[in-house]
Amino acid sequence: MPRSQRRAAIVTGAAGGIGSAIAARLDKDGVDVLAVDLASAAATYSGPGVSHAADLTTREGNRDTVRAAVETFGRLDIIVANAGFQHVAPVADFPEDRWDALLALMLTSPFLLAKYGWPALLEAPQGGRFLVIASAHALVASPFKAGYVAAKHGALGLVKTLALEGADHGISACAICPGYVRTRLVQQQIATQAKAHGLSEDRVLDDVILTAQPVKRLIEPEEVAELAAFLLGPHGRSFTGTPVSIDQGWTAR
Ligand SMILES: NC(=O)c1ccc[n+]([C@@H]2O[C@H](COP(=O)([O-])OP(=O)(O)OC[C@H]3O[C@@H](n4cnc5c(N)ncnc54)[C@H](O)[C@@H]3O)[C@@H](O)[C@H]2O)c1
Repeated sequence: MPRSQRRAAIVTGAAGGIGSAIAARLDKDGVDVLAVDLASAAATYSGPGVSHAADLTTREGNRDTVRAAVETFGRLDIIVANAGFQHVAPVADFPEDRWDALLALMLTSPFLLAKYGWPALLEAPQGGRFLVIASAHALVASPFKAGYVAAKHGALGLVKTLALEGADHGISACAICPGYVRTRLVQQQIATQAKAHGLSEDRVLDDVILTAQPVKRLIEPEEVAELAAFLLGPHGRSFTGTPVSIDQGWTAR
């Protein structure tokens, strides 16, 4: 593909399960990827694109990320706000620092990336695209996940607002809302819950983690990446201001 026709994307959390699958899938579509992650993860990132280290819980990290994309590729067409983590605790014991970090990474970072990236998205010849990897937890709640659920609901509100502001400027914004995906984020929860409930990890998966999902199968990161590629491709441009669920029936209840 000629350099002038290649689009450029920021993918955050690109060293993780879903982020690395999205970076690889976009690369296959001829998109130049700035693969953003924390310094420790960025240093060992071996996927496609240009690795960039940033702590996205900081304003500077988000500003530098947008600056690096524009400087590296000379343009910015796509932002995929994917970086995230989970913290499980009852509300009365929920550590306030973890609450702040969850909101900073999964709500404020998408806002800052949109704010700093907006002028470049306005210039994108095929229309700017903003995609948040949210969660079924952007639509429904679970106990003990106050910070995560609040951040993901907020991110969906941000997406709706960006869709309205971008409508007259060719910019679309949407949120993918997955159920449980086979990544480190879920593996860690399985281990924690197994210890907490005194159960085997297999039992925890079926009886604790996947209770909300009628279909008892973890989603593969590549399935989420395929959906992202569709939404960011030519046939996805009418999806804006909306959550797109890939959740094994979770939110059908
Ligand atoms: N795995 C699931 O079941 C699932 C379900 C629904 C939604 N999601 C969402 O998908 C996204 C990706 O999750 P995943 O499952 O691939 O997890 P993951 O742990 O494999 O990847 C997350 C990545 O984010 C990075 N990250 C964490 N803090 C950061 C920071 N401050 N700055 C920059 N990068 C940071 C991590 O280093 C990691 O590489 C998250 O937003 C998560 O909430 C995951």
